[in-house]
Amino acid sequence: MKNEEIFEKTRKVIFENMIKSEREGGKKFHYTKPSPSRYPFQFFWDTCFHVFILNALGEHTMAKEHLISLFAMQKEDGFVGHMIYWDRLMPGRLADFFQSKPRLKNFFQSHMSALVQPPMAAQAVAGVYEASGDEQFLKQMLPKLKEYYRWLAKNRDFNGDGLLTIISPFESGMDWKPTYDPVVGFSGKKANWRLFLKVVNVDFRNYLNNYNFKKIYQKGYFLVKDVGFNTIYAQNLKALAGLCKDMEDPAGEEFGKLADRVSKSIVDVMYDKETCAFYDVHGKEDIKIKILTPTVFYPVVLKNIPEEIAKKVMDTHFFNSRAFATPYPLPCVAQSHSSFNPGESMYIWRGPTWIVNNWFLHQFLMEKGYREESRKLIDSIKQLIEKSGFREYYNPFTGEGYGAKDFTWAGLVVDMMKMEEKEEEKLI
Ligand code: GLC
Repeated sequence: MKNEEIFEKTRKVIFENMIKSEREGGKKFHYTKPSPSRYPFQFFWDTCFHVFILNALGEHTMAKEHLISLFAMQKEDGFVGHMIYWDRLMPGRLADFFQSKPRLKNFFQSHMSALVQPPMAAQAVAGVYEASGDEQFLKQMLPKLKEYYRWLAKNRDFNGDGLLTIISPFESGMDWKPTYDPVVGFSGKKANWRLFLKVVNVDFRNYLNNYNFKKIYQKGYFLVKDVGFNTIYAQNLKALAGLCKDMEDPAGEEFGKLADRVSKSIVDVMYDKETCAFYDVHGKEDIKIKILTPTVFYPVVLKNIPEEIAKKVMDTHFFNSRAFATPYPLPCVAQSHSSFNPGESMYIWRGPTWIVNNWFLHQFLMEKGYREESRKLIDSIKQLIEKSGFREYYNPFTGEGYGAKDFTWAGLVVDMMKMEEKEEEKLI
């Protein structure tokens, strides 16, 4: 498929999934649904992906509106939830029916979830600012971003090492990732209803504890420092420090220092010398969960991770291993792991290919000059779109599409293509 066609198809799915507030007197919003039927809400990290995609499509005004919408319900203390239910409590027709009843209107007030998702917002704002040069927009967003990242540090760094703890599997954006199995006490190989009950129980206990983080930490039933989540946090603190500097805001130093501390703790706490990988850790003792998923690579994108460590991780698990080498990479768990299931399942993130991992690793491969490998990750997405369209996730062997339909993430390929273009320009 030609590049223009990929851009066209991406534009189509994004525009068809986009929604703007229309209700008189209602809250103002403007966002893109990750999938119109299954995920009609505004999701935190999805919104950031949509911003990257819109930027690559040249739609900077829409990208800005998506971010303004994401922060429109920010709490006074800085918190922004991982899902925003704009006038909607559930997907589908049932919601349409209930919402049409005037007496139930109050029940359907817009609100946010109590959880968080990978904090990519600073990078998203930086991308829009870089592309549009709009200082007014940056001035509007900067105080909101600062409050948001301060909220995370204050509420989720429980032991002061800089790393953030997630309190539910759903916070990492990789819902049923097998590294959480031992944390919830699931010992089966393949996911089943027992795992379901154990994960639901985590959320139920969080709810019973009224999302009081101190209490949740004391009880300690689900405390995970996720490598993916924390790498994104470190990257975004750096991006935020850069934005502050652009605006001559002294807070730049605070965020820059914190970014360095987080990166250092990622190495100290998560890196395992023997197996050359970065692992999620759990509990108050930071116990490593040695299961290979693509997030074992994530920290290599951080600029201040020692070069020899990054090299070892990539050599061991990417360049010289069969673990993630499938026809349509990257499977979201190593093929050899007992939980690996390449097919469709309600227990997502346990085998198939999710585009975000390609997008993430591509940054590193491209910057370090692994041209062939970085292009391979792009080509694979193009083929997946051609073969199966825009789906939530794909079979890593056959490329068959699964899960939600008209799902936007494959559109990240246009951002990757733009990055390649820029990189090539640099080389000329
Ligand atoms: C799934 C994904 C999550 C995403 C959401 C909406 O739950 O696991 O990362 O944000 O769908 O796309």
